[in-house]
Amino acid sequence: MKVLHLDSSIQGENSVSRAVSAAVVEQLRRAQGDLEIAYRDLGSSPPAHLTLAGFGSSEAADILEQFLAADIVVIGAPMYNFGIPTQLKSWFDHILISGKTFRYGANGAEGLAGAKRVIVALARGGFYTDAAGATMEHTETHLRAMLGFIGIANPEVIIAEGIATGPEQRDKAIEAALADAARVG
Ligand SMILES: Cc1cc2nc3c(=O)[nH]c(=O)nc-3n(C[C@H](O)[C@H](O)[C@H](O)COP(=O)(O)O)c2cc1C
Repeated sequence: MKVLHLDSSIQGENSVSRAVSAAVVEQLRRAQGDLEIAYRDLGSSPPAHLTLAGFGSSEAADILEQFLAADIVVIGAPMYNFGIPTQLKSWFDHILISGKTFRYGANGAEGLAGAKRVIVALARGGFYTDAAGATMEHTETHLRAMLGFIGIANPEVIIAEGIATGPEQRDKAIEAALADAARVG
């Protein structure tokens, strides 16, 4: 079983999404046994931004190939300025590729990557579950939209939120997210 583990936080050792994504991978290792794990730190080693010339680059081909080869993809995703980090968006720009991960037909778009399991470890500074917060939430919604578009309709999303609202809430949110990670099968 091949696992692709991605992180995209810029906060190094203090990153919550990194801690939770690592716990998810560790739990997968316990639950599923022998795993072949590929890791990429998009935060410190971001893919190039999309350009016309970049479409044909070997980097673009490698990113797509690595995604297509994975059975399980674990994504550490922080909220920065109400969305996902530009580094992670750039990675998605390389995997939403017509004819590879989706195609348009008579009935509209059809996702081609539906066989994959995707687990997202999301960390947000504030709270976004009430109606007011939901209008500012462009991380989980954006990730679900992009994944759904390529056929991954039900990603597993573990959320730690309120991280920036105080040390007590930070600890509580991390503890709850790590407990969710420990339940991954
Ligand atoms: C550059 C930057 C931008 C941020 N923007 C937001 C934001 O728009 N909304 C929010 O709720 N939290 C925001 N935060 C707080 C992060 O979501 C929070 O620190 C979270 O833990 C990030 O995940 P990480 O710890 O894995 O980096 C921001 C943090 C940073 C460093």
